[in-house]
Amino acid sequence: MAPAPKPLQPAWDTEGLRQALAPRLPGLRVEWRATVDSTNTRLVEQARGQVGRRSADLAPCLLVAEAQTAGRGRMGRRWASTPGRSLTFSLSLPLAPVAWGGLSLVVGVALAEALDPPAAPGAAPRIGLKWPNDLWLLDAEAANGVGRKLGGVLVETVAVGPQRMVVVGIGLNIAAPAAEPGMAAPEHGLGTLGELEPGLGAPAALARVAPPLVGALQRFEREGWAPFAPAWAGRDLLAGRPLTLHGSSRAVQGDGAGVDTDGALLLRCAGDAIERIVSGEVSVRLAATA
Ligand code: BTN
Repeated sequence: MAPAPKPLQPAWDTEGLRQALAPRLPGLRVEWRATVDSTNTRLVEQARGQVGRRSADLAPCLLVAEAQTAGRGRMGRRWASTPGRSLTFSLSLPLAPVAWGGLSLVVGVALAEALDPPAAPGAAPRIGLKWPNDLWLLDAEAANGVGRKLGGVLVETVAVGPQRMVVVGIGLNIAAPAAEPGMAAPEHGLGTLGELEPGLGAPAALARVAPPLVGALQRFEREGWAPFAPAWAGRDLLAGRPLTLHGSSRAVQGDGAGVDTDGALLLRCAGDAIERIVSGEVSVRLAATA
């Protein structure tokens, strides 16, 4: 008989994490699951009160899963993660910012700074941010000169009476996934945290990113997007690059020109006209390089 698989949970110090976050998030629950459909779906349904007979739930919750059977990416895409080789979690908390613009960018900034702290002035960062909220590992060897996708963020909000819960879902590649027959490699390849920091496992990465993530969300609630804009600009992967944006009805071409005070992407098009692209409206593709 094959030996029973070793339980993975002991690696996750859920109680230590709860204690670290509780001063900022009183009443927080931290939960671990071997498998769920999607950590975002679970927390969205929990907030809406669709779990069992419970009523809508405004208590903050961090749910980490080893594997998802129906992981969701942005724009209706699937998100695949591999047990032991991915960090897959969602955090839900009530939030009441004056304006919501820039929220998903704030998450990217918080993650990038936690995993790749700002280096000496002028030094190039190792983690870049691709609007609206992709993390990319930057390296000189990348064939396209811009790097490889390291992780992604899916932000959803749920109205609970007069209040709003935000569910922030994060997927990070810790180690390269085993090749799956028939599964196409991503267009620009995958980057992993192991390349940036060998030996950093998913539980340690979660313990590293969760406190600054909560801090950034709460700062965003108080102060909005503006204080995060300089850090974004320092890691903006699209600034000055030729881009094609694929919207629902048309494609737009231009050069990335940063983001505005609402976190919308700015694109310098023909005749120097600036197009403003609102988060979630389009996907961004880097133009093929020569
Ligand atoms: C993207 O790049 O398209 C966003 C990917 C977000 C994936 C994470 S994994 C944890 C959480 N649960 C999900 O179903 N999706 C997010």
